[in-house]
Amino acid sequence: METLDLLLDRSVVFSFDRSGYERHARRFTPLPRLDGQTALVTGANSGLGFWSARGLARLGARVVLLCRDERRGEQARAELAAEGQVEVQRLDVSSLADVRRFAATWSGPIDVLVNNAGVLPDTLQRTAEGHELTFATNVLGPHLLTTLLLPSLGAGSRVIAVSSGGMYPVRLSLRALQGQVASFDGVAAYAQTKRAEVLLTELLAAKHPNLTFSAMHPGWADTPSVRSSLPRFWALMKSRLRTPEQGADTIVWLAATGALASGKFWFDRREAPTHVVPGTRARPGDVEKLWALVEGAIAGR
Ligand SMILES: NC(=O)c1ccc[n+]([C@@H]2O[C@H](COP(=O)([O-])OP(=O)(O)OC[C@H]3O[C@@H](n4cnc5c(N)ncnc54)[C@H](OP(=O)(O)O)[C@@H]3O)[C@@H](O)[C@H]2O)c1
Repeated sequence: METLDLLLDRSVVFSFDRSGYERHARRFTPLPRLDGQTALVTGANSGLGFWSARGLARLGARVVLLCRDERRGEQARAELAAEGQVEVQRLDVSSLADVRRFAATWSGPIDVLVNNAGVLPDTLQRTAEGHELTFATNVLGPHLLTTLLLPSLGAGSRVIAVSSGGMYPVRLSLRALQGQVASFDGVAAYAQTKRAEVLLTELLAAKHPNLTFSAMHPGWADTPSVRSSLPRFWALMKSRLRTPEQGADTIVWLAATGALASGKFWFDRREAPTHVVPGTRARPGDVEKLWALVEGAIAGR
């Protein structure tokens, strides 16, 4: 049985798909309650963010949905109202100014921060602050948000980065990460940001040993962004995709499970390798340069 599991996991398709979730879920156990705890989820009006928020609310947490569009956020809050204590606040994570505005208004302890919001645009777009949109949304905004909320994150608080198995084929390239490429490829740009999220999780874990930083990937889940950003993939795989609730499961598990090793990468409630493709480990010095780049960008340098 273990050999069969190993072979299916190595196939990728039969691991990242719904059958992989169902096979892995046979070992899952019930989650502890989160009564009295506060969880913030970015991009919580849709897809994995919505289902993470639902899972956290069901465990008793007070959940704050951080959504860029007030109407969509309010609609999600109304849909989740019966699940528990759910609030909504406006936040556009692609805007460093908006992250600063939100963080300045926040007060009170945070037990869980889920950096879930993400985009995969098919054209090169820059934010008003001049950053490539994928980089700004998936990396810079979440990094600034985490940094500014550190005073509210107490010992044992969990910070979760929703990365992607799409990072596996790529090695960190600081130029590609910033959209400094001859010809823009949305999937390649996205993969760079998801690789960066995992590396930043490792760095944050080393710098803040009192907190638990985790990155995870959800496998392949049927969400609005998969349909719109990867229409050919969606058409080919739609019968095999996980539900968004299944994709969100490891996010909720990481939020609810205390005392995990910090700085790790997770998939279906188990630690996952960060490298499976040869030649994808960062070049010497590039991880330090990533930190300097991101810290410089959020400081406006
Ligand atoms: N679905 C998968 O199979 C899969 C696989 C690997 C990784 N992921 C990751 O999972 C995360 C969630 O994606 P999803 O599949 O659930 O997609 P989704 O349903 O499209 O949800 C994305 C969420 O992010 C929000 N968002 C985008 N830009 C934002 C911004 N600037 N500020 C605040 N919120 C913003 C969206 O808000 P609007 O509704 O306003 O656009 C939406 O709520 C992403 O980080 C993605 O990379 C997903």
